[in-house]
Amino acid sequence: MTDRNDVIVAADFPTADALDHFLGRLGDQRPYLKVGMELFYGAGPDLVRRLKGEGYSVFLDLKLHDIPNTVGSAMAVLRDLGADMVNLHAAGGSVMMEAAKEGLTRPDGTRPLLIAVTQLTSTSKDMLNQELLIPGEVDEAVAHYAKVTQAAGLDGVVCSARETALVKATCGTGFLTVTPGIRFAEGDVQDQVRVMTPQAAREAGSDFIVVGRPITSARDPRAAYLRCRNEFLGENNA
Ligand code: C5P
Repeated sequence: MTDRNDVIVAADFPTADALDHFLGRLGDQRPYLKVGMELFYGAGPDLVRRLKGEGYSVFLDLKLHDIPNTVGSAMAVLRDLGADMVNLHAAGGSVMMEAAKEGLTRPDGTRPLLIAVTQLTSTSKDMLNQELLIPGEVDEAVAHYAKVTQAAGLDGVVCSARETALVKATCGTGFLTVTPGIRFAEGDVQDQVRVMTPQAAREAGSDFIVVGRPITSARDPRAAYLRCRNEFLGENNA
């Protein structure tokens, strides 16, 4: 594992008030937070500035996908919010990904991590073949999009923990994998289909896990968060 390993909590709330209520239940813990479309559109960009000011790391999960110039300009705005990680759809192509990377880069040459969605985990083989007109298996498309992402100079991909080994075999172990679909062994899978425990994700080689409802809906979110850290990072916070 690298020093970039962490548990990212999916802050899937509609308002800043709902987020604050949740953060209050975490006590002394300040997790890496994933701000997705719901919270970003509901609370606005100032929330990201505020969270950064309070010392949180933020993954902005906005999955940009547009013409290169538009994505590059939008990324320059996200860079100035102070996000630590942002993402886009690899389907936008390598020129779009390169423009995104350029837009994110600060004058001193540093930038947030930039990762790509290869194929959404909601995409089935039928949908891939018949609607998107991409032949073959979903895995082949994931591996190919990961290669294009790496060639464009990005840092990694969002993928199912079950695809981590394939992505690492295709792109090397240094290429980051950020994996949602995490559940505790005895937990309810809810609408996720292919799930893994934090420990299995760690064994599969995931660099970051994204965990939402197993923490946000837990009776004791702080304990659930610490359990996740314990299982994924091997920390003993008992
Ligand atoms: O609550 P749960 O742990 O299922 O939340 C997972 C989070 O990861 C949600 O924010 C969801 O949108 C996101 N995600 C996912 N599968 C993907 C990409 C993102 O579950 N392929």
